Amino acid sequence: MKITVVGTGYVGLVTGACFSEVGHEVLCVDNNEQKVAMLNRLEMPIYEDGLEAMVRKNVEEGRLRFTSCIKEGTEFSEVIFVAVGTPPGRSGEANLSYVEQVGREVAEHMTSYHLLVEKSTVPVNTSEQLKRTMTKYLRADIDFDVASNPEFLREGRAIPDALNPSRVVVGVESKRALLLLQEVYKPIMERSGCRLLEMDIASAELTKHASNSFLAMKISYINAVSRICELTGANVEKVAEGMGLDPRIGPEFLRAGVGYGGSCFPKDVDAFVHISERLGYSFDLLKDVQKVNREQREHVFSKIKKELWVVENKRIAILGIAFKPGTDDYREAPALYFVNELAEHGATLRLWDPIAAPHFKKEFPQHTYCEDLMECVQDADLVLVMTEWPEIKALDIQALKKAMKSPVMIDGRNVFDPEVLREAGFIYHSVGRL
Ligand SMILES: NC(=O)c1ccc[n+]([C@@H]2O[C@H](COP(=O)([O-])OP(=O)(O)OC[C@H]3O[C@@H](n4cnc5c(N)ncnc54)[C@H](O)[C@@H]3O)[C@@H](O)[C@H]2O)c1
Repeated sequence: MKITVVGTGYVGLVTGACFSEVGHEVLCVDNNEQKVAMLNRLEMPIYEDGLEAMVRKNVEEGRLRFTSCIKEGTEFSEVIFVAVGTPPGRSGEANLSYVEQVGREVAEHMTSYHLLVEKSTVPVNTSEQLKRTMTKYLRADIDFDVASNPEFLREGRAIPDALNPSRVVVGVESKRALLLLQEVYKPIMERSGCRLLEMDIASAELTKHASNSFLAMKISYINAVSRICELTGANVEKVAEGMGLDPRIGPEFLRAGVGYGGSCFPKDVDAFVHISERLGYSFDLLKDVQKVNREQREHVFSKIKKELWVVENKRIAILGIAFKPGTDDYREAPALYFVNELAEHGATLRLWDPIAAPHFKKEFPQHTYCEDLMECVQDADLVLVMTEWPEIKALDIQALKKAMKSPVMIDGRNVFDPEVLREAGFIYHSVGRL
């Protein structure tokens, strides 16, 4: 089957590569010509485990191509997946201008039936606006469908997730659209055995916001519990384990830490709060989820201030920039907040991250970046752990202590065992554990 994917970011590129991997013929379109040129040179604009090899293989075998021409993309296939960004707007609502632009441009180039599939995360009822826009820009009376097919992949595990999804949600309003999406997903369903859930478009759109907001809520919940743990001497990891073994709760997303970040949870929770408000419902539960998340960062920052007393001119090593291990994505990463706050307080920052550092450095060139962890912590007054990269967990604690000016660690991800660190002579603070 021929498939067009518009947008070659974390979602579009992985989706396009995986569709080609299962045997479809895929054309990926991106209006960023630099990105398309990179991809045509088989250079990956993002890091995702296994992506480069998969792209290379499918390009070489003739099933995957890249272009910046939306007209070509429209002519290539009757099924067009829209995987462009939906970043937060000025007041937190989803910015749908990229989605709108694709709808407009596809409509302008359409000469026969097309199915436009929302893969991007969009607020409920976006399809209605998209249909209105497309109708306005069509050059003739041509039939088309819009469908919703939200993406649930996790960065860092994007390829296995896309090839073995927990579920495929499709929101459709015509038999034709359903049949096309069933054909697209047939090879993935066959190899993974997962279910394709058919529903109306609004429910499919809502499923994505509801899922991400629920996961964010779990994180904020355990972070709120971690505050009670700190006030009572309880250990949040023990509490989370005790909770998580209940199959009604489950162990995932119950790790206390510095709060959720990344390109999805903060913006999706915000967008869900906004669309709810617009529809006449004040989603106070989610507003509290956001408040807990904000306060968690501030709370961890207060531990730094308490320990250092004066932050100005202190040398601080920040270990980890990416919002989680396995990705180079630092959009809304907690590290951003700490870099800004610490710099504002006059600290000297040294940063280490195995994948995200080169991109981050372009945006924040004023700090020092180290490829080697031990070089990063050299003469540091304090080490701050922001991402649970395995390299950090594997650090030689004695060597770390020796390298630092003063052995103080604030562990925002509960990577280390407090007892081990304290026995080694560290002043050690983590989250929800004494
Ligand atoms: N990143 C994730 O883990 C993840 C997971 C699930 C869903 N999503 C959702 O998927 C969508 C895409 O996310 P992402 O992280 O891949 O974004 P991204 O910013 O990495 O990529 C978006 C791409 O779209 C391109 N683009 C923008 N406008 C375009 C246009 N008019 N024509 C062609 N290309 C255009 C950009 O150049 C960019 O390459 C978002 O709605 C996001 O919320 C993301």
